[in-house]
Amino acid sequence: MSSIQIVPCEGVGVEIHGVDLPNITSSDLDTVKSAFSENGLVFFRDQDLSEIDHISFAEHFGAININRFFAAHPDHPQIAMVAKGENDRDNIGGGWHTDHSYDVEPALGSVLVARQLPTSGGDTRFTSMYRAYDTLPDELKTQIEGKRAIHSTRHIFGSKNNSYYQSSDSGKGRIGNSAAADAMQDVTHPIVITHPLSGKKALFVNPSFTIGIEGMEPGASTELLVKLYTHAMALEAMHQFQWRPGSVAFWDNRATWHWALNDYHGQARTMHRITIEGCALG
Ligand code: SIN
Repeated sequence: MSSIQIVPCEGVGVEIHGVDLPNITSSDLDTVKSAFSENGLVFFRDQDLSEIDHISFAEHFGAININRFFAAHPDHPQIAMVAKGENDRDNIGGGWHTDHSYDVEPALGSVLVARQLPTSGGDTRFTSMYRAYDTLPDELKTQIEGKRAIHSTRHIFGSKNNSYYQSSDSGKGRIGNSAAADAMQDVTHPIVITHPLSGKKALFVNPSFTIGIEGMEPGASTELLVKLYTHAMALEAMHQFQWRPGSVAFWDNRATWHWALNDYHGQARTMHRITIEGCALG
């Protein structure tokens, strides 16, 4: 008999207790899959997960997308290193975003495992894009109906960007592959998607990778995007996850935003991230 328990988190997401990820049973896996589909964000505590276990768990949800921009784990290219050293100033993911919205088929989600944590700080904030859409004023819902947004990666990872990732010493070696970014085409996705797993509507734009709205003048497009971001950032449905050794977070990129806080200068933080392939969004 399974002892799995699903405990809602404050704001958004659930913590799943009573499951041993390296030895997950098929019935517990079904429970985790449905909690993930319903909530778009699940956490686990006290897991003893090797790199191989991490890969095997992620593969239950789909094929692994090997990240083109992050430094890879030396022995396991499927694992992207999300690291900040004790002498680095900048961190990776230090602003609201969702991973891989710049792909033609945006990633389903990411499984992040804590490997080395600062003594305090280094939490990750999450917020719900279902809630962001549901709570939008009707006037804004009407303005975005049927519209598509343009997503890009060149301004962050490309050779002509101003991003700190490439211009500062601290980003070098951890992130950036300007040749790959330069070669990537911008893509468009609906601003409001029907989520492929839950069937619910979600807002699908983010301040890091969305660069405009198709068919709109740049000024008007920026103004509308800023209204959407301001609304999403003000949501009370935010959860700040405090990492501990053995913690694992698994988020759905089509249903959430996240933000890695950069408040632990002088200490190192190392996380292993696996990103899972998604599908075209409609
Ligand atoms: C990320 O943005 O993918 C990393 C989040 C974190 O390090 O907490």
